[in-house]
Amino acid sequence: MPGAADAPSVPGTAAAPARSRPADAPPLRTAVLGAGWVSRTVWVPLLEAHPAFEVAALVDADQAAARALAPPGREVVVGTGPEDLVGLPLDLAVIALPNHLHVPVARTLLGRGVPVFVEKPVCRTAAEARALAEAARGGAGVHAGSAARHRADVRALAALLPSLGDLRALDLDWSRASGIPERDGWFTDRRLAGGGALLDLGWHLLDVGFDLLGRPGVTDALGTVSGDWLGDADAVADWSGRGRDGGTPARTADDLVEDTARGFLLTDTGVAVSLRARWASHQAVDHTTVTVEGTKGVAVLRGTFGFSPHRVQRSSLTVLRRGERTEVALPEEPVGVEYERLVEHLARRLTGPEASSPDAGGGSLAEIGVLASCVDRLYAAAGRPGLPTKPPEPPRGQGAPKTRQSL
Ligand SMILES: NC(=O)c1ccc[n+]([C@@H]2O[C@H](COP(=O)([O-])OP(=O)(O)OC[C@H]3O[C@@H](n4cnc5c(N)ncnc54)[C@H](O)[C@@H]3O)[C@@H](O)[C@H]2O)c1
Repeated sequence: MPGAADAPSVPGTAAAPARSRPADAPPLRTAVLGAGWVSRTVWVPLLEAHPAFEVAALVDADQAAARALAPPGREVVVGTGPEDLVGLPLDLAVIALPNHLHVPVARTLLGRGVPVFVEKPVCRTAAEARALAEAARGGAGVHAGSAARHRADVRALAALLPSLGDLRALDLDWSRASGIPERDGWFTDRRLAGGGALLDLGWHLLDVGFDLLGRPGVTDALGTVSGDWLGDADAVADWSGRGRDGGTPARTADDLVEDTARGFLLTDTGVAVSLRARWASHQAVDHTTVTVEGTKGVAVLRGTFGFSPHRVQRSSLTVLRRGERTEVALPEEPVGVEYERLVEHLARRLTGPEASSPDAGGGSLAEIGVLASCVDRLYAAAGRPGLPTKPPEPPRGQGAPKTRQSL
């Protein structure tokens, strides 16, 4: 009989301050590299609001953009590349640059002993994941992980899994109505972004999905990608405010990423994982749906990850058992609260008991390697050629060099 179960206790969503940090410990001096949308919306405000962090440096090719993000009333180093951070005592660097710069910049900083948090997609290929792991051997930590793991609805789904029996299948779907990040910038340039909806939305889905499954390996993959919406101006996200960045190298149709990716992965635990990642579609709103099928029931979580205003207004979580559907009550949450929890999680990893084992828990190098190999396999199955070894040179004389190759 349909009905509402008691509100579940949702593990892993409390945002209490980091435990073993003395109250008078100085904040962690943090450099934020990239002064674009995610740093403006997430990183700088949330790091500044957390007692464990202090933004000590801001780096962007567009120095004015970096300067505009500087917290008022404190001296902050502003630069255009990691070379401007040499000699600066830093406890952490957050890398929130276009995808092709994640691994090269992380390697530079790790080489100087600076721990890094790398935005998703941490890397574009498994080869980049290996290069990152190699650079981390020097001892400085690599941190990562999708904020979506810290959503209350995702934690509630995780808490339900033991009641579903033996897991057989996981279906991951993030379909936006119209959410191509930008038309002419780096996001849609394969040589820079490395890929489209699969790397952008699919990375979050795989991060959440493989965490739910206990991080299995992958034995097989099928995939297909398409780009039917890229030419449609109405399919571009109207909420991110990126627009044209005017600094993208000249490109041909082959340089464009996909707006839609569909894939099927077989895991070494026998669970079948299907995935749809779509920047645009015929859907009325942007939705993220995670379906877990077990021998004793099927759980369906439907909501919207991320910040899009075209969202499912309230997440729902239902369980189907022998024709009987039960709704699991979920706490109502403000949009984006999972990012606060991600920052808190990071504080714990850097200063709490987990600090001694930086590879443990969410966002470890081992997980990054698995996600990158899923992406590689799906693109290979879809017949997409490998990435050029060197990203293209940016055009000359187009204002801020937003896609400079090397830092
Ligand atoms: N976790 C999330 O939910 C989330 C959300 C959005 C973006 N992201 C990720 O964050 C990263 C940045 O995304 P964004 O949306 O902020 O992009 P953006 O285009 O808004 O910002 C990128 C910034 O990098 C700067 N830049 C470009 N090339 C540079 C160079 N060579 N040297 C210095 N600065 C350079 C640009 O001037 C720009 O300010 C991406 O990897 C993206 O996937 C994550």
